[in-house]
Amino acid sequence: MTMLRIPGKFDPNYWVSALHRLDPGLKIDVWPDVKDNHAIQFATVWSYPSGELLKYPNLKCISSLGAGVDHIFNDSARPPGVPIVRIVDKNLVRDMSQYIIWAVLNHTRALDEYRRSQARSLWTPRALKSLPQIGIMGLGQLGADAAIKLHNLGFSVSGWSNTPKNIPGITCFAGDKQQNAFLNQTDVLICLLPLTSQTRHILNRKTFSQLKKGAYLINVARGGHLLEEDLLAALDNHTLSGACLDVFNTEPLPSTHPFWQHPAIKITPHISSVTDPTSAVNQIFENYRRALAGEPLLNRVDVERGY
Ligand code: GLV
Repeated sequence: MTMLRIPGKFDPNYWVSALHRLDPGLKIDVWPDVKDNHAIQFATVWSYPSGELLKYPNLKCISSLGAGVDHIFNDSARPPGVPIVRIVDKNLVRDMSQYIIWAVLNHTRALDEYRRSQARSLWTPRALKSLPQIGIMGLGQLGADAAIKLHNLGFSVSGWSNTPKNIPGITCFAGDKQQNAFLNQTDVLICLLPLTSQTRHILNRKTFSQLKKGAYLINVARGGHLLEEDLLAALDNHTLSGACLDVFNTEPLPSTHPFWQHPAIKITPHISSVTDPTSAVNQIFENYRRALAGEPLLNRVDVERGY
């Protein structure tokens, strides 16, 4: 039995070691060093060349190394009918919520301004502004956890999702019909949606104009959700007051990109939540076992929905 792992963002050595701790005899090929294409039954992937997976005729499962699967759906030449699974992991959820809490507090407590004051040895206390209304787009595993944790910190939180959700303490909006009502009351917009053809460029000029004046944007989902030129325009005309971005259309963000030097944009290099091999490897191994045994897979993605 052989597993194929296609490296990209993730260092393959960590994954190979973590998998070998579970089964020292497991045969793992690290792409592109694949000895026998016919022996590959399970591929665990991040970014990979389109069409690559068609070369493995006995593939039984495609497993994303992250929570997102857009990199797999972007491959228009992937083997039809091979099930796709993704990572649902408590550490991934925890880390994302921690990042979001940091980004929200950094904004609401004006911590960047204190940093600038400190650089000039200035003691400049500021009155606390009234707490913003937080709006989370996407109430899956990640969005729901962030919503509950922000609510527990005393924020008023609402969420918007494709299908109706019921989360105690959170005002839940759903579907196209309720999108305006959700945006109209939001001061801090957090994007945690899956990237699909419906959600691509959902963070655009029109969306920004429906938020409360001077709203703040946090994008921790995918760069493809954001129309970058619309963000720059919304910051210039003060529709938005700032943005914290962890994901970008092109990663790494090119050094000449205008976001880098923009005073109202905070940038992190796609680190809000990165899959931890020691934690996530159990479900990959379990899915490998299930795929070979023909048993139902964990965290299977709905190919029609795209997430
Ligand atoms: C990271 O971006 C992931 O999809 O897990």
